[in-house]
Amino acid sequence: MTKTITVIPGDGIGPEVTHATLEVLGASGADLEYDMQLAGVAALEQVRHPLPQETLDSVERNRILLKGPLTTPSGQGFRSINVELRKLYDLYANVRPVRTIVPGGRYEDIDLVLIRENTEGLYVGVEHYIGMHGDPRAAAESVMIITRFGAERICRYAFEYARRHGRRKVTLAHKANILKYTQGLFLEVGHEVAKDYPDIEWEDRIIDATAMHLVLDPYRFDVLVMENMFGDILSDLMAGLVGGLGFAPAGNIGRDAAMFEAVHGSAPDIAGQGIANPTGLLMSACLMLDHLGQPEAAGRIRVALDTVVRSGEARTVDMGGNASTKQFTHALLKALA
Ligand code: NAI
Ligand code: MG
Repeated sequence: MTKTITVIPGDGIGPEVTHATLEVLGASGADLEYDMQLAGVAALEQVRHPLPQETLDSVERNRILLKGPLTTPSGQGFRSINVELRKLYDLYANVRPVRTIVPGGRYEDIDLVLIRENTEGLYVGVEHYIGMHGDPRAAAESVMIITRFGAERICRYAFEYARRHGRRKVTLAHKANILKYTQGLFLEVGHEVAKDYPDIEWEDRIIDATAMHLVLDPYRFDVLVMENMFGDILSDLMAGLVGGLGFAPAGNIGRDAAMFEAVHGSAPDIAGQGIANPTGLLMSACLMLDHLGQPEAAGRIRVALDTVVRSGEARTVDMGGNASTKQFTHALLKALA
């Protein structure tokens, strides 16, 4: 059955990479219809609101959102629409697979998945200054919040993901040796949840040691699960293992809604030049197809990406080539034909 999804092209290079992604989806056999909507600076300029009601109504209806990057003004201006959307639909699991596509990097054949808790931890934004001795900002305090409910659903998500995708092992990374309460609770819950999945190998590991082992020997890992900030930091580290942000897709998954987006931002420095690499959003669209139960179409796109990039037939500037977004997209369409 044809699935209608909400699509937000976004800001900066967003419209360019979204256009490319929809073209490739069209040639992949994916059974989709698009409900095009505005958000971010583009929405502010056209309808004078960064997150219009019409967009929210569309997401409410379709429950699946494919989103280009949105520019967030620093300091002044509106709050991050990305964070707003994650909160609004309780998109608690941030799924970030990293996979080698361009050969000849630091490592070959990396294939890892990081599952980051998306709603709790230090990023809940419970923070304030403490005044002392006439200095209103003499100290600052941020509160880390971990709930049994939040820890359980993300750990369970990681094990279910591993099972569904035929993965062998889950590593829970934490800092329970120092943060005995918050991280201790996360670890305790992880141990409990693991008992329900005797078919999946399981280990826990201190976060700093995990970072070192990821650089020394990434092959010892498979699926990794951790709280919000650790996941934020390690997912960028892991993107670095496969050549950087251009290849990093993300799914933000909730109980009854999901949002798929590239990890990179709106890249204002190259916007409008027609040279952006659409791979991050395209791979996010593949995660979306898996999620929607259309893995065949996702598989065809992944094979086309591998073929085009590995053969060197077309590579965008950030991959060390000189293909435009259009030329790269055209090569993908040819590989899919
Ligand atoms: P950025 O990811 O937009 O750019 C960092 C560098 O990577 C730039 O040199 C850019 O040209 C390059 N780059 C990024 N994506 C690329 C692609 N697809 N192809 C080729 N080169 C690419 O990060 P930056 O500059 O820190 O942020 C720009 C804006 O994007 C900010 O307003 C930020 O708030 C927003 N942003 C939005 C995100 C989202 O919508 N999920 C995520 C990250 C940032
Ligand atoms: Mg980040």
